Amino acid sequence: MPTDRLPEGDEKRAAVRTMFDTIAPRYDLVNRLMTFRLDVRVRRQTLEALGLPVNATVLDLACGTGDFMWALEKKGHRAIGIDLSHGMMAAAPKSGRFIQGDLLDLPVADGSVDAAVCGYALRNLLELAPFFAELARVVKPGGRIALVDVSAPENPILRKGFDLHFNKIVPFIGGLFSDKAAYGYLPRSVVYLPPPAEMVQMLADAGFANAERRQLTMGIAQLLTGDRT
Ligand SMILES: C[S@@+](CC[C@H](N)C(=O)[O-])C[C@H]1O[C@@H](n2cnc3c(N)ncnc32)[C@H](O)[C@@H]1O
Repeated sequence: MPTDRLPEGDEKRAAVRTMFDTIAPRYDLVNRLMTFRLDVRVRRQTLEALGLPVNATVLDLACGTGDFMWALEKKGHRAIGIDLSHGMMAAAPKSGRFIQGDLLDLPVADGSVDAAVCGYALRNLLELAPFFAELARVVKPGGRIALVDVSAPENPILRKGFDLHFNKIVPFIGGLFSDKAAYGYLPRSVVYLPPPAEMVQMLADAGFANAERRQLTMGIAQLLTGDRT
């Protein structure tokens, strides 16, 4: 992964896949260390926002090592994980319903799932509109989506702390335990995300009612939700 500029197009897809294959073995460890376990709380809030019916079938998109899948299964739901990186799924702590695939071309039948969740992957995609169109295709009418990713806090003091953490501490911890270049890219990749209002409009255009975006944990994460019409 180049450290001086952010890749685009096919170069970005290949770079993202290679990067996650590389950092997969220590991904869970570094994640917990660099988020001080705040990611666990964000995951809980994200799943609560889905308001799932009992025994739901839920896609965990860009599932990585499957954290959302385990939380879903614990609540009695059927979780199916899809990710581009074979290495990430192979590094999962246990076996599950994993499928290798691209979020822009989901290997899933139309209207076949009750809900979909996606954690910390929006900024890694080439484009959001085709992903939202795929979500609208595979989620049943009445189903719900919850997409979470990092965001920069609006409060200027928190923002300073966020910048220090993501630009210095995350690459430092990543370098100690894993791949420094990858953990330098991850914070910088936030700039790929469109402004919040644009993402909400894109979700509405794709066919999601009540599309909204809210900030979690003092603004360091953002959650997009919507109901399939
Ligand atoms: C930061 S990790 C998040 C993993 C997991 N969702 C979590 O919450 O820990 C981002 C994941 O997105 C996956 N990813 C990136 N682009 C993708 C794409 N186009 N299709 C499927 N997965 C993708 C990566 O392989 C990686 O596992």
